[in-house]
Amino acid sequence: MSNKTAPVAAIVVAAGSGSRLGYPIPKALVEVAGVPLVRRAVDSLVEGGVSRVVVVAPDGHLELCASLLADVAVPVDVVVGGAERQDSVRLGLAAVAEADVVLVHDAARPLVPAHVVADVVERVRGGARAVVPVLPVVDSIRAAAGEGSRVVDRAGLRAVQTPQGFDGALLRDAHAHALAAELVVTDDASACEALGEPVTFVTGHREALKITDPFDLLVAEAILRTRE
Ligand code: CTP
Ligand code: MG
Repeated sequence: MSNKTAPVAAIVVAAGSGSRLGYPIPKALVEVAGVPLVRRAVDSLVEGGVSRVVVVAPDGHLELCASLLADVAVPVDVVVGGAERQDSVRLGLAAVAEADVVLVHDAARPLVPAHVVADVVERVRGGARAVVPVLPVVDSIRAAAGEGSRVVDRAGLRAVQTPQGFDGALLRDAHAHALAAELVVTDDASACEALGEPVTFVTGHREALKITDPFDLLVAEAILRTRE
């Protein structure tokens, strides 16, 4: 598919508990500088050109999520998530069944710059069927092997972020295949790769960091101060 103006639907997976963050509420509802992560994630996507959003929310928090997103400038639906991230993506996909261009984004990456979102969209509209933002790995890497370990050449490695962008039909096929084949995937590009589909890289951004533990919230607050 190549269509420079195809509308873009985004699935924002927000149904995780955030066990490593350790708050009594789901991570996507935790605020950074006064605004919940899920709202910041949706705003970043809309700023990057997304025209429709499906938020996959934790069970029991659908109404709260919907109220947090009531005044977003594009249509937003809220659906309930599943046990694992890939279940939540699949449930979100069911709500964007007709979309040709679909982005999948983690609510846990609230500060992704709009230009990264726009790059992903542009590549999918230009005909790439599975697009991921990546960054080089900066630490030295070792593989733990029993009592010992061995060095892994980091030059060939990339850290993968979201939003990842897809041809909608491919993403639906990929998740149906993963379900049928009982594949466990931690991101959506890997579900496409399991069908033999090549993955296209765009340059990610450090500000698209994933909020995992309390340290990351401090970094996010600092990033937001630089944007004021
Ligand atoms: N996610 C989801 N449904 C799940 C699990 C995760 O929608 N069953 C979402 C999270 O809300 C998050 C993204 O997938 O936006 C990435 O997951 P992660 O950062 O691991 O978040 P949590 O699973 O919530 O955190 P933890 O693993 O620390 O519990
Ligand atoms: Mg998790």
